[in-house]
Amino acid sequence: MPLDIIIGAQWGDEGKGRITDRLAESAAVAARYSGGDNAGHTVTIGGEIFKLNLLPSGLLNPRTVGVLGNGMVINPKRLIEEMDKLAARGVDVTPNRIKISYAAHLITPGHIALDQASEAALGTGKIGTTGRGIGPAYTDKIARRGVRMESLLDMESAADQVMAQIEQTNRTLQVAYGQPPLDARAVASEFASYVHRLLPYITDTALYLHEMLKAGKTVLAEGAQGALLDIDHGTYPYVTSSSPTTGGAFIGLGVGPGFLGRVIGVVKAFQTRVGEGPFPTEAFGAEAERLRGTGANPWDEFGTVTRRPRRCGWLDLVLLRYSARVNGLTELAVTKLDVLSGLERVRLCKSYRREGKVYDELPLGPAHLEGFEAVYEELPGWSADLTGARKPDDLPAAARQYLARIEALTGLKISMASVGPEREQLVIF
Ligand code: GDP
Ligand code: IMO
Ligand code: MG
Repeated sequence: MPLDIIIGAQWGDEGKGRITDRLAESAAVAARYSGGDNAGHTVTIGGEIFKLNLLPSGLLNPRTVGVLGNGMVINPKRLIEEMDKLAARGVDVTPNRIKISYAAHLITPGHIALDQASEAALGTGKIGTTGRGIGPAYTDKIARRGVRMESLLDMESAADQVMAQIEQTNRTLQVAYGQPPLDARAVASEFASYVHRLLPYITDTALYLHEMLKAGKTVLAEGAQGALLDIDHGTYPYVTSSSPTTGGAFIGLGVGPGFLGRVIGVVKAFQTRVGEGPFPTEAFGAEAERLRGTGANPWDEFGTVTRRPRRCGWLDLVLLRYSARVNGLTELAVTKLDVLSGLERVRLCKSYRREGKVYDELPLGPAHLEGFEAVYEELPGWSADLTGARKPDDLPAAARQYLARIEALTGLKISMASVGPEREQLVIF
């Protein structure tokens, strides 16, 4: 009956989508609990690439129901587009397969305009957001003036609430940012047009999840973003505006911790980040390019949402230990191990140094990373192509040693390692 939680243990894009897809084979439900279409989750099945922004990756398994939990912020236009795209590729997106919480918040064009205006005004001090309106939508939620999914249950109330939200936005856009106002009436009537389409999907997802768990079914909570982007536990202020950590799953789904099963931290075999903010193990020049790839492969390190080149570096185990702690991880799933093949030496950051002193833990958390320099352990690399590996014994000794050092330095068991983007390219330990 467990609730198994899949957490991004770094700065996002760890491969949560593909791990969720694989675990969904034996789960009744996959549920997103935080964020919105700032997420981009990739699943590759038989050469076909699916990119999901709002819908849970578990939906690609025909027996798994997808839930969009109350903790999410949802752009209804983008949701409808995503459903249509999946439907065109043969995925059943009818209301018996997708359930949307009545308490999830709506992202309006006002939120998107504010996100973009705020980033432009910050200039070089910008956060580097995805520009999808995430921060302003959560701001409205916390300020108790947000528009929730349930407003769509009544067309008139939806139009009124959206109109009020745009009028409020227009004051800020004009006064604080000197930007032209949006057409409130046009936006309101656009939202009214979503009512018929989304109405059949809106329900009490917390009640549904509770009933499924009580009936002994497995529910997967599919994290978006990553622990280091968490509003409380991340590299503040270079974070997103929600709680992608384990605690966020309970709040964002309305399920208590009594059902908790596994908490799987998904971590890349190296480290990446999109957007601004500190990154102690960041590599530059040829080394960074080697980890990033040229862009010729679909899995090379260029953002799924924005196509920005991701910043790349070596796996940071100080941050991973931190992430394990704040999330209560029970195990790790390591992804993209295949990418390290062909490197003569591989590096793991096991501690930091600052002013001559060595630190195994950050004294003030990841918001205070400035000034810490990575201390590396170097290990022999391996030349073998790993993409055909399916069992631990298929991996060369050096790759197994690399994973064993990650286990030793984090105290966590690695239960899975992926060796290519395909659903089947996974070694189970
Ligand atoms: P998510 O946001 O955590 O779901 O991750 P993304 O989908 O944004 O980014 C992960 C990228 O790595 C995608 O392009 C995946 O297809 C790709 N990927 C996932 N696992 C592997 C792997 O084991 N090897 C390789 N080469 N690519 C992978
Ligand atoms: P998935 O689920 C990587 C980053 C942005 C930016 C910061 C704030 O695919 O792992 P926001 O638009 O959320 O206000 O941007 O957070 N960010 C992500 N980075 N993967 C994601 O999602 C991200 N979602 C947000 O790049 O630095
Ligand atoms: Mg992603």
